[in-house]
Amino acid sequence: MHMIGRLALWFAATLVVAAHCCAADLRSDWIFTPSTEFPQLTTLSIEGQTGSIRSLWYGDLPLLNLHRDGERLIFQIDNGNPRLEKHDLTLAPTATGWVLTGQLWDTQLNVTARKADRREVEARAFPTYALPRLRDLPDNGLARTPPMGWNSWNKFAEHIDEKTLREVADSLVSTGLRDAGYVYVNIDDGWQGIRDAGGKLQPNSRFPDMKKLADYLHSRGLKLGIYSSPGPKSCAGYPGTYGHVTQDAQTWAAWGIDYLKYDLCSGEAFYHTYETVRATYQQMGAALQATGRPIVYSLCEYGRFNVGAWGRKVGGNLWRTTRDISDDFPSMAKNGFDQAAPAENAGPGGWNDPDMLEIGNGGMTAEEYRTHMSLWSLLAAPLLLGNDIRSISPETLAIVANPEVLAIDQDPLGRQARMALRKAGSEIWIKPLADGSSAVGLFNRSTSPVQLSVAWSELGIGPRPRVRDLWRHVDLESAADGVATAVPPHGVVLLKVRPAVTPSPSSP
Ligand code: GLA
Repeated sequence: MHMIGRLALWFAATLVVAAHCCAADLRSDWIFTPSTEFPQLTTLSIEGQTGSIRSLWYGDLPLLNLHRDGERLIFQIDNGNPRLEKHDLTLAPTATGWVLTGQLWDTQLNVTARKADRREVEARAFPTYALPRLRDLPDNGLARTPPMGWNSWNKFAEHIDEKTLREVADSLVSTGLRDAGYVYVNIDDGWQGIRDAGGKLQPNSRFPDMKKLADYLHSRGLKLGIYSSPGPKSCAGYPGTYGHVTQDAQTWAAWGIDYLKYDLCSGEAFYHTYETVRATYQQMGAALQATGRPIVYSLCEYGRFNVGAWGRKVGGNLWRTTRDISDDFPSMAKNGFDQAAPAENAGPGGWNDPDMLEIGNGGMTAEEYRTHMSLWSLLAAPLLLGNDIRSISPETLAIVANPEVLAIDQDPLGRQARMALRKAGSEIWIKPLADGSSAVGLFNRSTSPVQLSVAWSELGIGPRPRVRDLWRHVDLESAADGVATAVPPHGVVLLKVRPAVTPSPSSP
């Protein structure tokens, strides 16, 4: 072999040795000490320049930007949620063994690990399941007007129990709220226990007997709602339906459940494309329909992938269009005004859901809560109270039970309001109603009072309409050409405007 040939051979051999050396170097397997802490990491496997980390919340997730710094392994994790900031995690030797540290989304990790062999990792394999082919499910015939009721989350978070729920239910009856339409009593996250040997999910000790609870609510003219997630874990870390979709739907139907809120939560790692998110919601929609029980189906995936365009097709009756509301004006205003979802997706049987009500929870003024109630009613939003009904104040009751405002939300035409005009720091929203009139909300989003003058012609409304103020419960006699009114800071004037000549209900 001449010189060049020998050199080429040497070079190739060096490359092979080098490749072999580094791949072998970077191949390692690890087992984490079992933990109940989020995200319950179980194993880590490194193979060359790639690797994956396994947890009970997210199954297997690929490692990003994996590199080595001396003995330390550094990488990031992506669970498919584009909103979550990625930080470096470091697996490093310490005096007491190997420890993985770093910030994982909102959580500071500090988990011990030990080297393992591949078989130990394989023994902890995480199951994956096929999703159904996309198809359109039939309308379930429910929620012809936006669902109304109460939900435990905004006030109690996961600290909810059967006794409290029954007391809230009794208060819905004694305050007249049930008769005003608030009939669904929905348990949010925190009721779930563990699965029995047959895989059937049991409630935890705070809810000893779901069937009895449903029977009790039904006997009081109320309905019972429940909460779950398509992933292995709910947002608060309780078991989701992963691998048990049909079984859980059947369990709930047997208990007498009337409403399901299905929250993506840890499912976002498994389902983070349009097709998979839609398919997983369809899977539960079909499972609910197959039970034969009428169950209102609430999708909660925070508005991803334009959910309003396909929510009905997966059997949904309402779909969250926003992130979680909190009990303050900016959060409420962001969900209600700024993120109002496309109005054309809302109508009988399917509603945009800007999240549950905070009225009465104490973080806003009565004026702001009237804005919250008015806006949700104009948006034809589901009205799920989130306060403690057992101690509801007369002022809060007057806001949430105002029959003239509730009639706007529950109007049978089922149209969602549109923002018609911005004027003097204010927004004017209009919702067409079944009787040919319109609900008009004059909102002041600023922190100073405004004096607002709006000609009916600016809103496409003919002259001399009949006008009623729905919070003051009075007819406004002097509103022939328009309305001139003061609107308090963060406040609202909500009107029902009936044209002198009533157009046919189908016209806009
Ligand atoms: C998510 C939902 C909330 C609530 C919690 C429960 O954050 O958006 O409405 O259901 O989960 O953990």
